[in-house]
Amino acid sequence: MTTKKDDPKSSPRRNRTDLLTPEFTPHPPVQPLGLDLLHGPPLAEHIVVILGVGPGLGLAIAQVFASRGYTTAILSRSKDRLSKWADELHSTAAAFRTQHGIEVKSGERLSGAFACDAMDNSAITSAIDQVAQFWPDKTIGSACYNASVRKRGPFLEQSLDQIQQGVQGSILAGFTFAQSVLPHLTRVGGNLLVTGATSSTRGREGFAGFAASKSGLRAMCQSIAREFGPQNVHVTHVIVDGLIESETALEFLGMPKGSRFKDGTVLVPAQMAKSWLFLAQQHRSGWTFEMDLRPAREHW
Ligand SMILES: NC(=O)c1ccc[n+]([C@@H]2O[C@H](COP(=O)([O-])OP(=O)(O)OC[C@H]3O[C@@H](n4cnc5c(N)ncnc54)[C@H](OP(=O)(O)O)[C@@H]3O)[C@@H](O)[C@H]2O)c1
Repeated sequence: MTTKKDDPKSSPRRNRTDLLTPEFTPHPPVQPLGLDLLHGPPLAEHIVVILGVGPGLGLAIAQVFASRGYTTAILSRSKDRLSKWADELHSTAAAFRTQHGIEVKSGERLSGAFACDAMDNSAITSAIDQVAQFWPDKTIGSACYNASVRKRGPFLEQSLDQIQQGVQGSILAGFTFAQSVLPHLTRVGGNLLVTGATSSTRGREGFAGFAASKSGLRAMCQSIAREFGPQNVHVTHVIVDGLIESETALEFLGMPKGSRFKDGTVLVPAQMAKSWLFLAQQHRSGWTFEMDLRPAREHW
């Protein structure tokens, strides 16, 4: 005898047989790796917004999407620096479109710079509104949260203020960013991609506040992913487990100007960014929630 508990229709969360109805049209053709369009709105209408764009990973993420012809909205506090990058991203996306016979309308901007301080939640909401208004004929289809505040030091020397800044820079700003973009992402589906760090899963000595904030951000992403996956939004969290190559890192470690790190010792932004493209291209029949990236020589 089938009890109510065993009946698949009475426990939809445990047994998804209710979704398994037959479909008679064949699957669309499978594209070779790397050539898929992003999940979400079509290329011509798809905006990729990135909060926390500096010369490292943030810019590399914008570049990888622009190199496939996508419109990018780049956000951080340094508007002048962003404007210069937005001009370059526009040219990159326009070149792709021209090469592939995709129209660039007269006067159409394929990248824009927007000032936004992640420490101010209302500034995040307002910047996302500005992005949507700047391209009224397009939709935010992919959103990357890449900003963070990293304060480190011996635990007893860390102040409450430092911890609060870390929590604001990761959890609260990430929360506001996600709440601002999700109404756009749910229109036709899309991607929310969030940058984590070693501290997302490991609280190392000296990183108490950062570990608390990055692990909180990660947990929040899991919750958003479970709620919004069925609404066609792919939420993904990338654990960046290692040092990212940058001028600042070279200077901090006393390396000569103009040098670079040996291959396999640090993460290289342009190489890392290809993973963001791959994640945003994934078909909804097989989504990654979490990816970790580390250089070959990293201890973990
Ligand atoms: N660097 C590393 O070694 C490393 C290692 C592991 C994980 N990560 C993670 O990777 C992400 C960043 O990568 P990255 O270090 O290469 O930096 P990046 O992408 O080059 O730049 C991040 C940018 O975020 C912006 N930002 C910082 N605070 C902000 C705020 N309050 N509001 C708005 N924007 C803000 C800054 O630009 P403005 O000054 O113009 O605002 C900064 O340049 C972070 O999530 C970080 O936790 C980094």
